[in-house]
Amino acid sequence: MRLLTLFAALTVVLPGSLQGQISRQEYAARRDSLISNIQDGALVVFGAREPEKDYISFYQDPHFLYLTGVREPNAALVIVKRDGRATGTLFVQPNNPAAEVWTGARMGLDTARARTGLAARAADDLLPVIDSLAGVVRTFYLVGAFGDEDPLEPGEHGLSYDQEVMRAIASRHDSLAVSNATPVVLRLRSRKSAAELELIRTAVNITVEAHRQAFQAIEPEMNEFEVQGLVEYMFRRNGADRPSFATIIGSGPNSTTLHYNANDRFMRAGEVVVMDIGASYRGYAADVTRTVPISGTFTAEQRAIYQLVRDAQAAAEKAATPGASFGGLSRAAAETIERGLARIGLIEGVGATVEGGEALCGQAGASCPQWTMYYMHGLGHGIGLDVHDPEQAHYQGGRINVGSAFTIEPGVYVRANLLSIIPDTPRNRAMIAKIRPAVERHANIGVRIEDDYIITPRGVEWISKAPREIAEIEALMAQRWAGTPGRNAELVRRYERTGSR
Ligand code: GLY
Ligand code: MN
Ligand code: MN
Repeated sequence: MRLLTLFAALTVVLPGSLQGQISRQEYAARRDSLISNIQDGALVVFGAREPEKDYISFYQDPHFLYLTGVREPNAALVIVKRDGRATGTLFVQPNNPAAEVWTGARMGLDTARARTGLAARAADDLLPVIDSLAGVVRTFYLVGAFGDEDPLEPGEHGLSYDQEVMRAIASRHDSLAVSNATPVVLRLRSRKSAAELELIRTAVNITVEAHRQAFQAIEPEMNEFEVQGLVEYMFRRNGADRPSFATIIGSGPNSTTLHYNANDRFMRAGEVVVMDIGASYRGYAADVTRTVPISGTFTAEQRAIYQLVRDAQAAAEKAATPGASFGGLSRAAAETIERGLARIGLIEGVGATVEGGEALCGQAGASCPQWTMYYMHGLGHGIGLDVHDPEQAHYQGGRINVGSAFTIEPGVYVRANLLSIIPDTPRNRAMIAKIRPAVERHANIGVRIEDDYIITPRGVEWISKAPREIAEIEALMAQRWAGTPGRNAELVRRYERTGSR
């Protein structure tokens, strides 16, 4: 009987952690790792502010979410480290019935303490507390959106709120040093825990489900926005927070624009459409691209390009073993693309270069490999709390390993204007004469295939199993869409099992 009770208790506890709920202990361990990497001083991490424009949804800052699990606006984390011992305090909005009529219930200080194990104070106390700490500590450590840049210097979008606060404090305390602890957090975030990998897996499952619906719904004369609408409907319907980046539905010429997201063109028979989509689930991003023929069957030209991109992805995937260098994966894909382009006649041959200058090689007067005229982006990136998340490959000698979560996304894009943007040199003229027929035959075909992978102690796993072989895509597209799908109770139930707000 006792054994049975114990077993029952275990089955209640285990699924929660296995299904991806991130425990209070895991958040505490993340903070401990961060703290062990800084000297004595005060560490400050600001959560995201309430959006300035009314009625825009609130999303927590990923660093703050990673360190606390708290999803409320205007919160902050302060950890003081003195003689090697650390004390953390969470600043949150206190319960306030009058304000909560508008915002809904806040967790308040008691729940904040209970949920995180940290001391808790009212958010309004934050600035006075920081100011008084500035009188007693020598160094402030900041974690924020400034990557490894100087935390007090404006970034691309000017100064953020936390930077403004810290600049004001620093200006009043001459001897205060302000140091950037963000690189430590980026390194920690680059290795995903088992619970994080499970959340990523769910984000990816939701995204795959959306792709499958879109494959079946697409038909000539439909607008790109109809596909976007269906995809994002499927995301939310299955428990996603939101798209993890702006949905890309690019048909015909738009298939060759890497970050196209106007999504308002009518799609024609005989074209392809690139669908680069990703759900965010409890803050974790998926990022999966499929390219399909609008009419349900690829033309010979589309097929040739599609297969070479797929071969490049397969070559990279084969090289993706625990401990492999991401550079090795990239080379495997690029070499396959180069050989394929040469076979089709889109480049003169393996090893051939173009005098591409600024327009094609990114530098005036420069030459670069001809294959870069068609494949001009990186092979992939980490995924996690951000769609472009820190990945171990950047920190551990370029290597992927257990805890890695990343994309492999080669592409080939034959832009209709390619031949007109190639610098006019004698050498290039000779090249154009050779490749013109192939470029004209394949113009406006853009193909990207993007999949998501995780590395667990069991090895590398391809987790975005939407159809991707030509025959599989055509077979699913032949099963025409039967309208709004029924509930996917399994995906929705996961939401209940993966935690609460
Ligand atoms: N969707 C953005 C990317 O593929 O990186
Ligand atoms: Mn993508
Ligand atoms: Mn991507």
